[in-house]
Amino acid sequence: MAVRDYLSVDDLSSRELTDLLDDASAMKAKPDQHTDALIGRHVALVFEKPSTRTRVSMEVAVTSLGGHAVVLRGDELQLGRGEAIEDTGRVLSRYVDAIAVRTFGQDRLEALAAGATIPVINLLSDRSHPCQALADLLTMQEHVTEKLSGTSVAYLGDGNNVAHSLLIAGAKVGMDVRVASPSGYQPDRDVVQRARDIAAHTDGKVIVTDLVAEAAEGADVLYTDVWTSMGQENESDERAEILKGFRIDESVVSVASPNVKVMHCLPAHRGEEISAEVMDGPRSVVWDQAENRLHAQKALLVWLLAQQ
Ligand code: CP
Repeated sequence: MAVRDYLSVDDLSSRELTDLLDDASAMKAKPDQHTDALIGRHVALVFEKPSTRTRVSMEVAVTSLGGHAVVLRGDELQLGRGEAIEDTGRVLSRYVDAIAVRTFGQDRLEALAAGATIPVINLLSDRSHPCQALADLLTMQEHVTEKLSGTSVAYLGDGNNVAHSLLIAGAKVGMDVRVASPSGYQPDRDVVQRARDIAAHTDGKVIVTDLVAEAAEGADVLYTDVWTSMGQENESDERAEILKGFRIDESVVSVASPNVKVMHCLPAHRGEEISAEVMDGPRSVVWDQAENRLHAQKALLVWLLAQQ
C-alpha cells in the first residue's frame, strides 16, 4: 500500500475528511476504547518553531493511543547544523512509524516527505496548518451543525496558513467560506483557486473580499487568527495598522447570524484581532476548538498508520 502523507488538507478526499471527523468524534466520545490503537508504534514530533497546543496535543494523542512519541526541537537535531532535511526523513524512517513536523516553507516539508518512507504530517508550515483545520471542522460540527455543507464561516484578518487550510477544508465539505482581508494580506491566489475548484464539485462557495460586512453578514461562524505570525515579528506594527479594521468585535458579531459561534486557533491577542469581550463571551468556542486538536489528531494518526 502506498504511504500517505498529510501535508495539506488537499491530501484527503472529501469522503476521507468526513470519515476522519466521524472517527475523531467517536474517539472523543469513548477514548477508553482506543488506548491500544498505536501499541508498538513510534512517532517523531519535530518542532522548528514554538508551539503550545500542537506540541502537547500531539504527544498526548500518541501516548493515549498506546504509542511512543519522540519529541525533538529542530536545533537539537543535526538538521539545525545543516543536515539535509531529506536525509533526516530517510534516517527517521528507519526508527519510527511516522514523522510530524512544524517547520517553515512547504518545500521543506515536501523535501522531508520525499526522503521519508513513512507518513509525514504537517504540524504547521508557512503555507498551511492542516491539523488545525481538522479541529476547526470538528468544532463546527459540534457547535453549529453535524452536517457542515452550507454552513457559512467568515474568516477575518491575515490570509495566512490557517486561512489557507480553512479554505480547502471548508470547500471539501461544501461550506460557504468567506475570507475578508485587506489587499496584500489576502490568501494566496492559487489556494483560493484550488478551493473554488473543489467547491464547484461540493456545492460549496468561496468568497475573498476586503469588506468585513460582506464576509460576516449572516455568518454561522466568525474566525480569526493573529495578525503577526511566527517569523513576521518585525512587521507587527505595520500589520496592526493595516489589519485594524478586520478585528472581530461586537459590531462584527452583530451582523452575523444570531447564533454565531466565534473561533480562534490561538494564541490570541485580545484587543488586536479579537476583542476581549468576544473572545471571553458566550459565543466563543475557542477552548473546545483547542481541545479538539487532540481528538482530531488521534483520528489522523490512527488512519495514517493504518495505511502502511
Ligand atoms: N493553534 C496552534 O497551532 O497553536 P500552537 O502554535 O500553540 O501549537
